[in-house]
Amino acid sequence: MRRIIVAANWKMNTTPADAGSLARTIGSRTREPGVIRVICPPYVCLAAVGDALRDGDVAATDGLGVEVGAQNVHHEPAGAYTGEVSAAMLDGLATWVIVGHSERRRDAGETDELIGRKLRAARAAGLRTILCVGEQLDERESGRAEAIVDAQLRGCLGGADLGALGLDGTGAGAVPWLTIAYEPVWAIGTGRTARGADAAAMAGAIRRTLIALGMPGGGEDVPVLYGGSVTSASIDEFLAEPSIDGALVGGASLKPDEMAGIVARAGMTAAARAGLDGTLAGDAPAMG
Ligand code: 13P
Repeated sequence: MRRIIVAANWKMNTTPADAGSLARTIGSRTREPGVIRVICPPYVCLAAVGDALRDGDVAATDGLGVEVGAQNVHHEPAGAYTGEVSAAMLDGLATWVIVGHSERRRDAGETDELIGRKLRAARAAGLRTILCVGEQLDERESGRAEAIVDAQLRGCLGGADLGALGLDGTGAGAVPWLTIAYEPVWAIGTGRTARGADAAAMAGAIRRTLIALGMPGGGEDVPVLYGGSVTSASIDEFLAEPSIDGALVGGASLKPDEMAGIVARAGMTAAARAGLDGTLAGDAPAMG
């Protein structure tokens, strides 16, 4: 059974002075057994968020708590890279990391090859990694969306020995180190979402690519999230799809009411899947 994940990408919002209290509010209002919650604040807010979430009041009733992620990582372990942060530096601050976000592809010129190096650096440091992929509007309108995402995955993962990266099956309820976020670029920050059926079709295509790349277990264990203008009103459409395992939320993740609605809906999906699977929704995740 794949776990349900709701990850908050706060992007370049919040400060060390206010991030902790926002994280604490969201944590206390999103207690849903079986839903893995991850908050990804700016680097400079990681410590404040981590400290706030370690507060006993925020510990989730299911014992999982809220996990903390970074929004980016450098591909080298250390060295003359002004302004950069390595995976080793995130030790104690984050257990997850986002790589390949379309805003970094756009603004920092990140290529699939570079993102692949970041993935390997994150893996080596034991970080759970959310790899973002997604097409531009003209690519969808010309029927090339799946081919573009296939190429992105191959560019990021193709050079790697997937077996060596440890992407193999992880057992029931376990969370593998890799999660894929399908984020169509035209849906990010626009208020326009993909249709649930299209996102589900893309999740199927993503898993077919993972199989083609030789992923042990065929990629069935790898969670696929949807991202792009997700709100408490639009989440339903995506979680109704069995191939979608949660959401990567941008703007709405800064609003506690929105996060409460999104995670409540995710909790229903988690409970339904646990019922189908015959396992307890609150089983602790293990890292694959
Ligand atoms: P929005 O939810 O603001 O569209 O952002 C999505 C996103 O980019 C998450 O990584």
